[in-house]
Amino acid sequence: MNPVEEFFHERREDIEKMSKDEELRKKSLDWMLASDKYKYSYNYTWLGRPIIKYPNDIVATQEIIWRVKPDLIIETGVAHGGSLILSASMLELLGGNGRVIGIDIDIRPHNRKEIEAHPLYKRIDLIEGSSVDPQVVEQVKQMAAGKKNIMVFLDSLHTHDHVAAELACYASMVSVGSYLVLPDTFIEYFPKGYYAHNRPWDVGNNPMTALREFLKTNDDFEIDQELNGKLMITEAFDGYLRRVK
Ligand SMILES: C[S@@+](CC[C@H](N)C(=O)[O-])C[C@H]1O[C@@H](n2cnc3c(N)ncnc32)[C@H](O)[C@@H]1O
Repeated sequence: MNPVEEFFHERREDIEKMSKDEELRKKSLDWMLASDKYKYSYNYTWLGRPIIKYPNDIVATQEIIWRVKPDLIIETGVAHGGSLILSASMLELLGGNGRVIGIDIDIRPHNRKEIEAHPLYKRIDLIEGSSVDPQVVEQVKQMAAGKKNIMVFLDSLHTHDHVAAELACYASMVSVGSYLVLPDTFIEYFPKGYYAHNRPWDVGNNPMTALREFLKTNDDFEIDQELNGKLMITEAFDGYLRRVK
């Protein structure tokens, strides 16, 4: 084994061991819960735009985009635009003509203004509407026609039914070898009722429950166990899915 292979081999072994460390998993989840009272995942920006992600997930996103080199990234859930700018910045670094489609039911005018003024907006198309509205899905399909390597992030409304409906619309657009990412599966591991005061999702009704249901009848996708094993602090437990066929 050459030194490069040796490094990655050792790293895979360490990650595999770490992934079985239940105490570390529990501590990570405890940390996520304790930091959530300060809305920890809202506290970062990517190239000037607020991004609602843990830094670990930002690095994981960089890893999969560099690995897959997509020519189209479809994202549901735009908010301040940080994740769109992250995707666009990776596509810019890759060169080529890669583009990002961002879909949101409510693109606030102040956010739209900032996104449109960003130098990476040249790679972004914004669609305002529900991600599961048939007209929106049709528009995305038309924009995706001819693209060879498509990646999808589903980060909009985190209820079971909505994510299940998004999976029905967008999973088939993911290219073989590329990724389908489902953030906010962590809701399943937070205390029951935690979001009851202001959100329609809860334990038993969230992206993780939709993901489990989806995987029961779909073997085109597999959880990336190496990513899943190492992140620990992540909004997307089991949520990085590679399309294998
Ligand atoms: C968690 S935020 C997106 C965060 C963003 N991806 C990031 O990482 O910075 C969720 C967004 O989903 C949008 N949303 C809610 N329901 C939606 C729907 N039915 N279709 C599309 N977007 C929706 C909300 O308006 C909100 O901006």
